[in-house]
Amino acid sequence: MSRDGTNFTSDNVTGVSPAILAALVGANEGRVPSYGADPLTAALEARARAVFETDELVLFPVATGTAANALALAALVPPYRALLCHESAHIMTDECGAPEFYSGGAKLIGLPGAGGKLRPERIAAAIAAAAEGGVHGAQPVAVSLTQATEAGTLYRPEEVAAIAELAGTHGLRLHMDGARIANAVASLGCSPAEATWKAGVDVLSLGATKNGAMAAEAVVFFDRRLADGFAERRKRAGHLFSKQRFLSAQLLAYLEDGLWLANAAHANRLAGRLGAGLARLPGCRLAHPVEANEVFAVLPDAAIEALLAQGFRFYRWPAEGGGTAIRLVTAFSSDDADIDAFLAAAARHTEAVAAGQAA
Ligand SMILES: Cc1ncc(COP(=O)(O)O)c(C=O)c1O
Repeated sequence: MSRDGTNFTSDNVTGVSPAILAALVGANEGRVPSYGADPLTAALEARARAVFETDELVLFPVATGTAANALALAALVPPYRALLCHESAHIMTDECGAPEFYSGGAKLIGLPGAGGKLRPERIAAAIAAAAEGGVHGAQPVAVSLTQATEAGTLYRPEEVAAIAELAGTHGLRLHMDGARIANAVASLGCSPAEATWKAGVDVLSLGATKNGAMAAEAVVFFDRRLADGFAERRKRAGHLFSKQRFLSAQLLAYLEDGLWLANAAHANRLAGRLGAGLARLPGCRLAHPVEANEVFAVLPDAAIEALLAQGFRFYRWPAEGGGTAIRLVTAFSSDDADIDAFLAAAARHTEAVAAGQAA
């Protein structure tokens, strides 16, 4: 079993992809211009334009997903306006108010939606409700989608396009929290462009840390007019690295030779195996279809306790419609032996519960 083989809590419990570590060592040579004026940053931008098939793209490396999201949203939403997102979105529940802070007070409006997904009807209803409030309610000017969602599900390009079209009709911009965009692209089998700007995404938080980087994400603008002032916004927030070459080196290695998609496809395959294996066990069901690298499964409580007591690590997660699921996340560094070990233990414990014995 690999060293993190029993830890399924998240895809950021991992180390760094060897190719990215090697790129960091390579970037350590010599003196280069600071604050992003270095050759690696230029190469990264060229690479990203090739990967996303657009010369319109401009990109700003930052060190965390929270910074990417909060700064991207601040660029889209003024303090007196609102952003629509899923009620379970990371920006809503897990960023300690960073989007509100960096935007100077913009309101986040969380909307329900099965499977962690926003749907056009809900968005339309929220826009209409805000309009009715007039000057008393913060009017939405942007929508944020999380890809993959907090339920491990995916928006198909046509679903993104339907939301983008509705948003555009009302003058709203579309942001995508792509902390796991690589897992989505690898699973959907579409191009990075089709998953994003071709479907109407204006700004992407491009995740890398969960999928092999040490600490690097990027804010990617597909409409460069929206990036006006962003360099200063990032600097003011303290997220302009003087030695930016080290962020760029990570992202360049990540996007080069398909590493990001290979890592993601590997994690997705293992999550698929894990989900299929759990679904076959007595008293178990999947809370959501496994579409990327996260598995949400409902298991008998005694079996969950027994797995934890045995040393496996994972989070309990509220299941849609009530009850508790567990969340298991696979990563680029997970391997088949990790999955085999978890499934064998889960089979033993769930069969014991089914047989009426203590797990
Ligand atoms: C969907 C999503 N967005 C953004 C982030 C932010 O990442 P960070 O912890 O790097 O700020 C995470 C991390 O868990 C996430 O799951």
